[in-house]
Amino acid sequence: MQILESVVSDFKAELQTITKTPDLLNLKAKFLGKQGPISEVMKNLKDATVEEKRLIGARANEVKTAIEELFSAKMQEIELQEINEKLSKDKVDISLTDSVLDLGLQAAGFHPVTLVQQEIEDIFISMGFEVLDGPHIEDEFHNFEALNIPATHPARDMQDTFWFADKKHLLRTHTSTIQVRGMLERKPPFRFVGPGKVFRCERTDASHEMVFHQLEGMMVGENISVGNLIYFMKTLLTEIFKKEVEVRLRPGFFPFVEPGFELDIRCLICGGKGCSVCKQVGWVELLPCGMVHPNVLRAGNIDPEKYNGFAFGLGLDRLVMMKYGIDDIRHLHSGDLRFNSQFKSF
Ligand code: PHE
Repeated sequence: MQILESVVSDFKAELQTITKTPDLLNLKAKFLGKQGPISEVMKNLKDATVEEKRLIGARANEVKTAIEELFSAKMQEIELQEINEKLSKDKVDISLTDSVLDLGLQAAGFHPVTLVQQEIEDIFISMGFEVLDGPHIEDEFHNFEALNIPATHPARDMQDTFWFADKKHLLRTHTSTIQVRGMLERKPPFRFVGPGKVFRCERTDASHEMVFHQLEGMMVGENISVGNLIYFMKTLLTEIFKKEVEVRLRPGFFPFVEPGFELDIRCLICGGKGCSVCKQVGWVELLPCGMVHPNVLRAGNIDPEKYNGFAFGLGLDRLVMMKYGIDDIRHLHSGDLRFNSQFKSF
């Protein structure tokens, strides 16, 4: 009986020093196991009287229950503590910012074409234009027919087209396809731009690539004039280059505009002296444009008697080259990180 009386307090005393699950299990085995004090007492009971057996047995059971309860409480306490420890260790610091640079990682950045495209989109959005998208894979209707370029028209040779095997689908050769989709989806008056990749089967050189970027623009309403067209084009170029750039307007032929123009800017790479980018002429063709041809309006379900408009197809890559002083268009798709990382990062 004496032994039993001290068991619970002994257990409590040792329990206080314990912080880990395995130690707790060992302690429980030590007190309640075959070699433990309770088992010892029970083994010695064989010589006791029936009355002694009853009293001591009942007490032993109480002690056992008390120890088991203390054990479970401590177990819960340790488990909770272990969960909290694990949580604080696994914590992710979402406020981590430019320390990625300290880790020697390179910060990502936007491609120069993306930077300029976003800048131009913002300029046009501020002038009330929508920004539209269109598919790279097109059909003859959207790339040619609706743009007043019938199958027999020699203008189809102007653009070396990547055709699909079905001879019906192609990779769009210009973003003018977005004009067609834009017209069919809305009623005048409207104004939108449509940037994107275009594809032509061409020999590459310092100013030609097979995959390049255009930004189409279209404005349709009543009484739109060449003056409106020139105003928007000049605003665009001044905002982009942050200074007045020298421009010149030449007549240009595109079946989908009448009259059509070529808007050139004085080459900013060589200042007009002549270089590989401006093909030694000092001027760079940047902005073909013109007044939308009545046939194009008709194909877009618009009455040319009532409405007219202008359209332009900005050569984005050339603009990027002028803006950043890049002397070869092939750098843009080189994927060379030494090139890409020179532009603004996030
Ligand atoms: N789509 C023409 C091209 O790719 C450019 C253009 C667009 C010309 C709109 C006039 C008006 O060359």
